[in-house]
Amino acid sequence: MSLLDDPQRIAEVDRADMRRLLRAFPEQLRRAWDLTAQASIEPLEFDGVAVCGMGGSAIGGDLLRSYLQPKLNKPIQVVRDYELPPFVDGGWLVFAVSYSGNTEETLSCAREALSRGCSLVAVTSGGRLKALAQEHNTPLIEVPGEMPPRTALAFLFVPLLRTLLLALDDEARKAAEREWQEALEQTQERAALYDGKPEAENPAKRLARALFERIPAIYGGALTEAVARRWKTQINENAKQPAHWDALPELHHNEIVGWEWPSALKGRFVYVLLRDPDEHPRVQKRFHITRELLEERGLPVFEVQGQGEGRLARLLTLVQLGDWASFYLAILNGVDPTPVALIDAMKRRLSR
Ligand code: F6R
Repeated sequence: MSLLDDPQRIAEVDRADMRRLLRAFPEQLRRAWDLTAQASIEPLEFDGVAVCGMGGSAIGGDLLRSYLQPKLNKPIQVVRDYELPPFVDGGWLVFAVSYSGNTEETLSCAREALSRGCSLVAVTSGGRLKALAQEHNTPLIEVPGEMPPRTALAFLFVPLLRTLLLALDDEARKAAEREWQEALEQTQERAALYDGKPEAENPAKRLARALFERIPAIYGGALTEAVARRWKTQINENAKQPAHWDALPELHHNEIVGWEWPSALKGRFVYVLLRDPDEHPRVQKRFHITRELLEERGLPVFEVQGQGEGRLARLLTLVQLGDWASFYLAILNGVDPTPVALIDAMKRRLSR
């Protein structure tokens, strides 16, 4: 029997039970939606939206931008830094997102947002960010605690999404709400598939097998660029393995030339193309050529796509596939997917 089809051996490696949290993703999406309704957030008019966060707390901002920017006539900016860009002024809506509430870069941006007179919304499970929001009486979306931040993605993405949907006109909002319903159904179906099916019928397990003992290079396009970054970081944190991401069309102007050297690494990479039916026709052609070029060089290449009609379902199910594939990759590597010892050590050293 494949190791990935043996629940007992999976549980032995997955000591902190990440599997349970991955399975709960659709349910978390629902809970996060309801939770946002409890926070009354003003204003719904703004000059732009900044999402400040790091790591697992920032990626929700990238996903938001991928999904919503085409529907919104105001800029959405993700800030992974200590300082807000100078153009973020009092007319901006600023989300400070930190699962722990103690990430120093995010706290620094939140304080700066307050001093510039921005509308600040804090999304956190507690810590100093919660205290700051309470002290300044700004909207606080308090999310359930005790999870690794990257497994709390639903809680760090949906509050942003639901809040900004209120800024759309009626027709666009209703369409987005229909997409949301579909996303719930599709993620539910996929969770059952990725968790329950044996390797022969399970795309997440098969992908993990393809990534094992290799360095994954994940390539996205317009909608899937943020997902490529999520896959990369999930492979790093869950499987404790290096990974790389890039996006089309930009990667045709640099990345592809770097497929040649060093010779010891050539053939150690595996390429995963994150496709989407809404790609610009030229990007579609570019993906096709990318695949040809890789195959001509004998380099392993896989193509995957999200599920569903709507963009939101496709986006979230593709995230989900990467989450499960990186989980199974951790099992193949024999490492517990949950602990991130070096991130914790880094934060401790910084605070000394
Ligand atoms: C850990 C993880 C990290 C954290 C990051 C920021 O699961 O994903 O990338 O998200 O170190 O910490 P928080 O999310 O607490 O602000």
